[in-house]
Amino acid sequence: QRIVCVACGGQSTEHEVSLLSAKNVTDALPRDKYTPLITGIDKRGLWHLYPDGHFCVNADDPTKIALAPSGIPVFPVRSTDGPALQELHSGIRHPFDILFPVLHGANGEDGAMQGLCQMLSCPCVGCDVSSSAACMDKDTTKQLLAANGIGVARSVVLRNGNGSLQAEEIVATLGLPLFVKPAHTGSSVGVAKVKSIAALAAAVADAFRYDRKVIIEEYVQGREIECAVLGNAEPFCAIPGEIIPHTEFYSYEAKYLLADGASLKTPADLTPDQIAQVQTLACRAYQILGCSGMARVDFFFKPDGSWVLNELNTIPGFTKISMFPKLMQLSGFSYPSLIARLLQLSID
Ligand code: DAL
Ligand code: MG
Repeated sequence: QRIVCVACGGQSTEHEVSLLSAKNVTDALPRDKYTPLITGIDKRGLWHLYPDGHFCVNADDPTKIALAPSGIPVFPVRSTDGPALQELHSGIRHPFDILFPVLHGANGEDGAMQGLCQMLSCPCVGCDVSSSAACMDKDTTKQLLAANGIGVARSVVLRNGNGSLQAEEIVATLGLPLFVKPAHTGSSVGVAKVKSIAALAAAVADAFRYDRKVIIEEYVQGREIECAVLGNAEPFCAIPGEIIPHTEFYSYEAKYLLADGASLKTPADLTPDQIAQVQTLACRAYQILGCSGMARVDFFFKPDGSWVLNELNTIPGFTKISMFPKLMQLSGFSYPSLIARLLQLSID
């Protein structure tokens, strides 16, 4: 029996999404080989251990989900007294064999947790430090992909607040509508679709509430096709799926809060040639970014038949509506066999 630490919650804006994902991952953990140890990280950054079966409350209601108060505090991340790493060694390292960070966004998906595992020589499911960091930053991702000949949306990067926003110049370059995105958030937190020059400044100011770096992207008209990629050196890409948002765009609300915010079409209605094209592109992008374990690679499929890569998600959602596990299921991985494969890939 191996003990798997399922880390969830966290201080990022996707805390609640992470809890929903972690519940499903834990439920699907093959119990013949693995025992879960739930580590809930609260919004203050404090770590709590939960015994198997007592993990979070209101798992079916994303607006009310929270870590149960019954967890045993294990590690004050922001401890000021004593060397943090030493505390981790004594308090966290020994009780588990593999860490599965079911954490979306900052301090979970961005390389921080992966770095902690590396320091502790602990196998960690998913991407390593550098690929996690590169994929978390939408601008860095695009630069690396574009440099390797993969199509991405044109964009402008803002770094120091919106004090000197050149709204007219930006609109002249990128057109309207356009998208404003914090560079490092997930689940569309802080993202806005802007339809007029007058609305740009407010959207940029809002995005800067979440991030010190903001990207403004041209609107790409096209179908939203998503690919699930699994593996290390020789990645496998499942049959693609399609997102059909029922709102203005695939926003946080459409993803998690609205009863009918979007439909997922699995598999996507594509020709065998188109499927092969996007699978090849997804695997290439995965390798360019240095991914391992897993990633969900999101594309726009333009009416002219070309592909624009939107982003790679290194800890994709595992919620009930999430595409990654659904696509893997289509390709023959049951939920438990997918989780088992991910755990195995972390030690291969
Ligand atoms: N960031 C969310 C969880 C996703 O990519 O699915
Ligand atoms: Mg994302």
